[in-house]
Amino acid sequence: MTVLATFGWWHIPAALDIEHELFHAQPWSEAMFWADLADEERRMFAALDDEQLVGYADLALSAGEAEVLNLAVRSSHQRRGVGAALLAAMLEAAADSAAKRVLLEVRVGNDAAISLYERNGFQVVGRRPNYYAPGVHAMLMERHG
Ligand SMILES: CC(C)(COP(=O)(O)OP(=O)(O)OC[C@H]1O[C@@H](n2cnc3c(N)ncnc32)[C@H](O)[C@@H]1OP(=O)(O)O)[C@@H](O)C(=O)NCCC(=O)NCCS
Repeated sequence: MTVLATFGWWHIPAALDIEHELFHAQPWSEAMFWADLADEERRMFAALDDEQLVGYADLALSAGEAEVLNLAVRSSHQRRGVGAALLAAMLEAAADSAAKRVLLEVRVGNDAAISLYERNGFQVVGRRPNYYAPGVHAMLMERHG
């Protein structure tokens, strides 16, 4: 059974493994995870299956807004509701902080993530050409809090 917990420093090695599995072109570095853990305006969640990290999520809170910075589920555990649970935890944290809107960027063509976000009330509000790399564009999505 998968359970959610607060993401801790001890989850970083497994998260780096998942980053390389999912985002091989641009994985987050160890330093990025440590920086986010030290930031009081971040909310990080871990999805654990038998105490092993199978997914994580990172939300930034600031000035009445929230931004989804990362959401990842290990391939072997996708399509079991883990991503939806992590997103729900972030939306709850955004609501708790009275965020008026939640923003995120998602790669054009990432249909799994786009479907998940649309099912949870996000709408496309803009495009960011070459956001990830030359020729790799992002869509900006927004959900009212
Ligand atoms: C996007 C991601 C987090 C979804 O996680 P997940 O645990 O597989 O998602 P869930 O099982 O909770 O699925 C929830 C909904 O998302 C959508 N979805 C998930 N995977 C999908 C797929 N492969 N194709 C189409 N829709 C998909 C569906 O709407 C799904 O609902 P359904 O299963 O009732 O049809 C996961 O695919 C992932 O880590 N992808 C790689 C990293 C990434 O792209 N992160 C997002 C960065 S913005």
